[in-house]
Amino acid sequence: METIVGVDELRLRVGEWRRGGARIGFVPTMGNLHDGHFSLVSIARANADRVVASIFVNPTQFGPREDFASYPRTLAQDQAGLAAHGCDLLFAPRVEAIYPFGPEATVRVEVPAIGDVLEGALRPGHFTGVATVVTKLFNLVQPDVAVFGQKDYQQLLVIGRLVEDLCLPIGIIAAPTLREPNGLAMSSRNQYLSAGERELAGIIHRTLCGMRDAQRAGQPRAAIEAAAIHALQSAGLTPDYAVLRHRDDLTEPGDAEGGALIALIAAKLGRARLIDNLVTDP
Ligand code: PAJ
Repeated sequence: METIVGVDELRLRVGEWRRGGARIGFVPTMGNLHDGHFSLVSIARANADRVVASIFVNPTQFGPREDFASYPRTLAQDQAGLAAHGCDLLFAPRVEAIYPFGPEATVRVEVPAIGDVLEGALRPGHFTGVATVVTKLFNLVQPDVAVFGQKDYQQLLVIGRLVEDLCLPIGIIAAPTLREPNGLAMSSRNQYLSAGERELAGIIHRTLCGMRDAQRAGQPRAAIEAAAIHALQSAGLTPDYAVLRHRDDLTEPGDAEGGALIALIAAKLGRARLIDNLVTDP
């Protein structure tokens, strides 16, 4: 596997592949890769002739009090893992390559509504940062397909809307969430947890399963959400939200509404802020 840092070099290599008729698959990441990320590479591998991954800790999607400076950077280990999973090219640009006018002065891509609720409301500017960097990466790599995890469900919706509304000819593939044996969704931020906290964090997935079962049993939404908050708090977590939403646009369903819903949780535990979700219909 080749690692490329420069934009011109990347365009050259991908251009060669494209002229040879290859279908390009793309997996954007922020590095510190785990099996969840590698499963995305395998899915890209199965859907394309050449697989490009990127590692870029994107400054514009972190809030001023968030973990941009301390975000784990493990390039050598990530390179070995990507190569072992069949990645052809790693693009690992510097900040100046992605933001030639500086992160503050960049042209921005905004995704209203879907990007304004839940994570977007709690982390102002987060999805604008995500949408902006992903648009830039799409323009640089020009993939035929790109793979995103359902673990970051709202991000997946934001990217889907962005591609559709900006008429980008890129197929978006949604990848299932990989979990630890206790149900905890794999995440680079799980490193911030102690061994005891990791065990405790299994409550998030158990609570999502409880929300799903209660929704299927026809319980009212307000009661389901209140019970979920209570379960998380009782376990010692600090929930930001535990909600049922429409799966296609994250709007609020009526109190007894069924159909295509999704349960979403964000909660703080120790130094980490964890998010996870589960679709509720069979
Ligand atoms: P990052 O958090 O590194 O995640 C990269 C991709 O891996 C995302 O599509 C995410 O949903 C997926 N992923 C993370 N944990 C997963 C798990 N347990 N199972 C399956 N997939 C998982 O998301 C980002 O980076 C950034 O916002 C990015 C899109 C790269 C833009 O900067």
